[in-house]
Amino acid sequence: MSNPSILILPGDGIGPEVMDQVVRVIDWYGAKRDLAFDVSTDLVGGAAYDAHGVPLHDDTMAKAQEVDAVLLGAVGGPKYDDLDFSVKPERGLLRLRKEMDLYSNLRPAQCFDALADFSSLKKDIVAGLDIMIVRELTSGVYFGEPRGIIEEGNERVGINTQRYTESEIERAARSAFELAMRRNKKVCSMEKANVMESGILWREVVTKVGEDYPEVELSHMYADNGAMQLVRAPKQFDVIVTDNLFGDILSDCAAMLTGSLGMLPSASLGAPMANGRPKAMYEPVHGSAPDIAGQGKANPIACMLSFAMALRYSFDQGEEAARLESAIEKVLADGARTGDLMGPEGGTPLSTAEMGDAILAALDASL
Ligand code: IPM
Ligand code: MG
Repeated sequence: MSNPSILILPGDGIGPEVMDQVVRVIDWYGAKRDLAFDVSTDLVGGAAYDAHGVPLHDDTMAKAQEVDAVLLGAVGGPKYDDLDFSVKPERGLLRLRKEMDLYSNLRPAQCFDALADFSSLKKDIVAGLDIMIVRELTSGVYFGEPRGIIEEGNERVGINTQRYTESEIERAARSAFELAMRRNKKVCSMEKANVMESGILWREVVTKVGEDYPEVELSHMYADNGAMQLVRAPKQFDVIVTDNLFGDILSDCAAMLTGSLGMLPSASLGAPMANGRPKAMYEPVHGSAPDIAGQGKANPIACMLSFAMALRYSFDQGEEAARLESAIEKVLADGARTGDLMGPEGGTPLSTAEMGDAILAALDASL
């Protein structure tokens, strides 16, 4: 049997430098755990635009459809700010999500003990935090038609459409309930049913899906209240399920509870392929961080944790995923810190590669 395949799309900004460290981890699994992957690399975002004039080449899109999992770094940067909307780096990412039909975006927000002091919230509010946001990723206002900027009378009008079909809501909800069954059996659904018809339908469909999971406690919240509750008392949540736009916003909020955006991974999953694995793309929640790009300062942990999610959700290697997560937890407990994790007491931050060295050493020690 051939090795499972991974397509790596480092992208822009800090994407390539954090991905270099992930490649070392992938190689480690091949060498030390007899878990080899066929890895190929290609361009996305501004990097693809520079080479091909588009943020995702058709050949890259075709490759992404064929592999067992895609690992993406980050896209975007100030250099591309003035590009036409249709070729902006973000369009490459959105095309991957849409054409691979990755409808379920899992964004865990977990607070590592060693980092509880880094949160902008009080330690006791975030210590031990472990929540999972399931964000619908292929529909809603990100993709709804009509959209555009049109002329109306003597002014222009910007239009986007929030649109959800029952089946789109249903499949996102189902993945949230399935996850909750393997966690603490609580789902909180967030929408704005008080002002949006799509929110009324969302609530109805989620409630209906919930009937198939009698063990799971389902609650509903307006998304604005949800944002408030996330900073007030985040530990009340287990799984949160929400739409594409609210999920974008709420997941940044949840991520920051944990102390640094440099720590948070994500998985975007679609329907099972012929081999039974879900269509999947894994990416850190942080962006391309152009202010520190190319300086070897970036924290590679979010991207490494994204690979751990790939081990768990694409390759059925939950124990190996836990090995990597424990190695990361250990180096943090031992005091290893990149610049984004430096406290007021200061010290010398590790470079991206030094953090990689520490994690590889911890992986070796785990054997
Ligand atoms: C995210 C990002 C993207 C989004 C951008 C880069 C298009 O913010 O993954 O959360 O809005 O979905
Ligand atoms: Mg976002």
